[in-house]
Amino acid sequence: MAETRVLIAFYSRTGVTEALARGIAEGAEAAGAEVRLRRAREIVSPEIMAYAKGWKEAADAMNARYEAPSAADAEWADAIVLGTPTRFGAISSELKAYLDGLGGLWVQGKLNGKAGAVFCSTSTTHGGNESTLLSMYNPLAHLGLIIVPTGYADPSLYKAGTPYGASAVSHNQATPPTAEDLDVARFQGKRVTEVAAALKAYAAAKG
Ligand SMILES: Cc1cc2nc3c(=O)[nH]c(=O)nc-3n(C[C@H](O)[C@H](O)[C@H](O)COP(=O)(O)O)c2cc1C
Repeated sequence: MAETRVLIAFYSRTGVTEALARGIAEGAEAAGAEVRLRRAREIVSPEIMAYAKGWKEAADAMNARYEAPSAADAEWADAIVLGTPTRFGAISSELKAYLDGLGGLWVQGKLNGKAGAVFCSTSTTHGGNESTLLSMYNPLAHLGLIIVPTGYADPSLYKAGTPYGASAVSHNQATPPTAEDLDVARFQGKRVTEVAAALKAYAAAKG
């Protein structure tokens, strides 16, 4: 059977969520996946991007590293993993704009039965990481994906992350994801790859 295909579609303004995305990619690749890492593009104005020192530069650097996610990427994937920095306790508008462009696939049922998972970062410990993760479960459900939570299915979950997905607390972007946060991210990449492979094998056997 062909390799399991994993799309990691994320937004990150300053690199914290990006680091988690790379951890998830590592875990997925170690489990045999072909990975596409894609960064959603800015939708706030240049004036907003100039508001904080380094935002524009970090975004430009990431845009040079990653293509923007497309509907074709979502159709290609066996698993779609969504990552966002929290925005007032919920998904960023940049990543949501990508999802809102998937209506054409939704109407044809093209994403039904793929595996889905989520990860995020916040500034503060209780700044909304769980509510942000759960805010991404909603579109995954509507799009027909089989949501794969991290649960406590690995020892790493007793030290970091959440049962809903990997997360990191950045303390206003001062702290990159810790080694424990990245352990959860790698586990998540592995787990979603394994579930996507099983779903793909089942679909192939069913015909
Ligand atoms: C408009 C806006 C709203 C935010 N809302 C929250 C929030 O509700 N809780 C929180 O902890 N951090 C909040 N943050 C901070 C970022 O989510 C956080 O610093 C994150 O780690 C940045 O990740 P990134 O480097 O991937 O962009 C907000 C940031 C912005 C710009």
